[in-house]
Amino acid sequence: MNDLTLMALAGKTAAQANKDLTFENPRVGAVIVKDNVVLATGYHHQFGQEHAEMNTFHQLKDPAQVIDATMYVTLEPCSTHGKVGSCAQSMAKWGLRRVVIGSIDPNPSTNGHGVAILKQAGIQVDVLNTEHSRRLNPEFHYYFEHRLPYVQLKLATSKNGIVSDNAKTRIKLTNHKADIDVHQERASKSAILIGSQTFLTDWPSLTVRYLALHHPQPLRIVLDRRGRLQNIKFDFSNRWLIYTENHAFAEKHAYVKESHNGLIGVLNDLAQQQQIQSIMVEGGPSLIQSFIAQDLWNEYLIYRTDKLLLDSGLASVTLQQNPDEMLTIGNAVKLRYFNHLEKGVS
Ligand SMILES: NC(=O)c1ccc[n+]([C@@H]2O[C@H](COP(=O)([O-])OP(=O)(O)OC[C@H]3O[C@@H](n4cnc5c(N)ncnc54)[C@H](OP(=O)(O)O)[C@@H]3O)[C@@H](O)[C@H]2O)c1
Repeated sequence: MNDLTLMALAGKTAAQANKDLTFENPRVGAVIVKDNVVLATGYHHQFGQEHAEMNTFHQLKDPAQVIDATMYVTLEPCSTHGKVGSCAQSMAKWGLRRVVIGSIDPNPSTNGHGVAILKQAGIQVDVLNTEHSRRLNPEFHYYFEHRLPYVQLKLATSKNGIVSDNAKTRIKLTNHKADIDVHQERASKSAILIGSQTFLTDWPSLTVRYLALHHPQPLRIVLDRRGRLQNIKFDFSNRWLIYTENHAFAEKHAYVKESHNGLIGVLNDLAQQQQIQSIMVEGGPSLIQSFIAQDLWNEYLIYRTDKLLLDSGLASVTLQQNPDEMLTIGNAVKLRYFNHLEKGVS
């Protein structure tokens, strides 16, 4: 068994983690090997609980088996004490001969420090730079590598590519089974974002409702450059945030922030001031079009349903590329597109 095979096993083990339970920690897997025999595998199960390295160590029949063994781990072991203690510091005491790491942790609290702790303990450390961790945790890697939230766009369309009869009409396109899937996608994001027209037309609640959620509801964000929302009666006090260019509106309420520098200014503020790792942009089409035109997107989901609307309605936003994934869910074909031009993605 070579390094890449064993790292692939660590990646497969990491994929067993429930993203909802680990949120917003990365999914990480590990394997302990000695004399070409896999002695233990493990992964990080839940935010706030032990990390993959410790869980794998606890799988050993006898802790002494770790002496002179090699640990494969998809992400660099953490160096800070955090909620569960530093994995690198614990591992430094076990007697490991070698640690093989898939990716360096982009989080500045660990970034390279975990490797340094292991090397100081005389352990051989090899970094393979594999894609396992990035594929398992695209939001985590993008956020820490670019200091921007990972942006997932989403629209539901009719069979003929229409999102509603007109901008002032609300139309329900997805059925319950497809809605559950949408809520699952919502549940894996730090925030949900919409344009002001969608708010004024749909009055959406933007919560995760059809599944159990093991972390706080996503922050709900509305982009309202002119400040049209200031004249409506609505309680925005519970986890809503409005970005506006209307200075008077921004002055009036704690949940309204004045935005500068357009969409990139909003994204910068969300990452740096609100620590938002990922957002789902749920329309409408004008806003989705702006994200695409400015190349500020990572992923685009289209739920193309079996309903038919008049061709004269509000058109969806299409891409000049083939979908990367296609799945039938409920009454919709779910198309997933990745932005292959995104920084750092091949
Ligand atoms: N089928 C679906 O999945 C789906 C999803 C959402 C909405 N909808 C439907 O879509 C319709 C509304 O969509 P829409 O396209 O008319 O409006 P929208 O995208 O929801 O909102 C557009 C507004 O967002 C604000 N905005 C702020 N920054 C922006 C930027 N950089 N680029 C563009 N807009 C920005 C603008 O406010 P200012 O004008 O003040 O600048 C603009 O008027 C409704 O009928 C709704 O039901 C369907």
